[in-house]
Amino acid sequence: MTNTSPSVLKMPAGFLWGVATAAHQNEGRNRNNQWAAWEAKPNRIYRGQRAGAATAWWDISPELDVSLETAAADFDRAAELGLNSLRLSVEWSRIEPAEGVFDYSALHKYAEMIGLLCARGLEPMVTLHHFTDPLWLTEKGAWENPLTEDYFSRFVERVVDALGDQVILWCTINEPIVYAYNGFLEGVFPPGARSLPRTIKVLRRMLLAHGRAYRTIHRMQSDAQVGLAHSMRVFLPANPASAVDRRAAALLDRISNRTTLDAITAGRLAPPVGFGETVTYLMDSCDYIGLNYYTTIHVAFDPTRPGLFFTRMFFDPSAELSDTVPGDTEAYGEINPGGLYLALKRLATYGKPIYITENGVPDHDDDVRPRFIATHLAEAWRAIQEGVDLRGYYHWTLVDNFEWAAGWDLPFGLFELDRETGVRTPKASSAVYGRIAQANGVPCELLEQVAPASVSRYFGGEYT
Ligand code: FCB
Repeated sequence: MTNTSPSVLKMPAGFLWGVATAAHQNEGRNRNNQWAAWEAKPNRIYRGQRAGAATAWWDISPELDVSLETAAADFDRAAELGLNSLRLSVEWSRIEPAEGVFDYSALHKYAEMIGLLCARGLEPMVTLHHFTDPLWLTEKGAWENPLTEDYFSRFVERVVDALGDQVILWCTINEPIVYAYNGFLEGVFPPGARSLPRTIKVLRRMLLAHGRAYRTIHRMQSDAQVGLAHSMRVFLPANPASAVDRRAAALLDRISNRTTLDAITAGRLAPPVGFGETVTYLMDSCDYIGLNYYTTIHVAFDPTRPGLFFTRMFFDPSAELSDTVPGDTEAYGEINPGGLYLALKRLATYGKPIYITENGVPDHDDDVRPRFIATHLAEAWRAIQEGVDLRGYYHWTLVDNFEWAAGWDLPFGLFELDRETGVRTPKASSAVYGRIAQANGVPCELLEQVAPASVSRYFGGEYT
């Protein structure tokens, strides 16, 4: 590989530099979805916390007007960093508060919100489902009910109708595997179930609904770019020389990654979500693949664990681990930038453009995040050098927000939030990310400051 002494690991022209957010984690005062109901129950969220006012993007004044002022100020922050995109989601329970009843004032507010992004040169990426369901849908069995495919399609149609003139980049569903696994197998997300058959049913339904939504959007907007955000865990065999470890890692990869990826590309519902049947409307149902990457997991064959398909997962004992909260099962875990490279290379085999729709780290004192950002982007650059068609990167997230089961104790933001006053304070990492976005790549000088040990890997002999 040649690269004539670059001073910046440059991304291709037109690369999107963004931050990723989600409605329930930012808007505040969402009371009509299953998460709000879940948060009200005892012992569901770490230290009994609730999303509450969140980061106040959907601020309701005493006159009951919705104010987007705080959202606009945060969009200013993103634009001032030099970003050119922002991923957000729309809240189904606001848009369709009761079955078949659409709130056009909510849709108009979202159109206004998207307008605020566009006015600041931030290309919107809109997620249509990010973990939350309206309560009326929950009462009908949500994603266990086959009719939810129709409900979701109808909702998507209204949203595209209202926002389609401003939005090209759509993300149908955020992390179907996490919604299904956390809610129905681990029981840490609503509805708190622990049932493998229900997990499989929900995942299958979400994949099918994605396919339907993809067709719906394209019917209405031919130039739309539609994808899904897949939470990809990279599974590495504990001992690469061991055939059983390799098989254990491949099995988890099949369940966790291939079910989704095969469905949205080949239209194939592979075991466990199907019997290998092909569904026409799922075939080629993505214009890009959205990659949410946080960590890498090592897998060993373990004959004592039949319930876990004879596998044992662990983080490398010598690896640096990210911050966590006691009992947090989401396990952002091992910090492994090389895993991002592997994930990108793997996704590239599907022949679709890729966006990194999420990547970030919970880090209380922001001492890891600057290095985390720079080294992950350097690995993304490395994948691009090898031909991977990566079009953009969305850091999770802009402002510390409500982190689902971990409540407010897992800060992922580039800005710290004072929840009493609403004041945002930039962390050192925000400037680091801003410098990268402005340079359209990782400057050598910056890497020297935040990750000196990695400089030779990218700027040394290896790549010149
Ligand atoms: C992802 C979710 C996102 C956020 C990050 C940290 O799994 O999509 O909402 O919670 O993790």
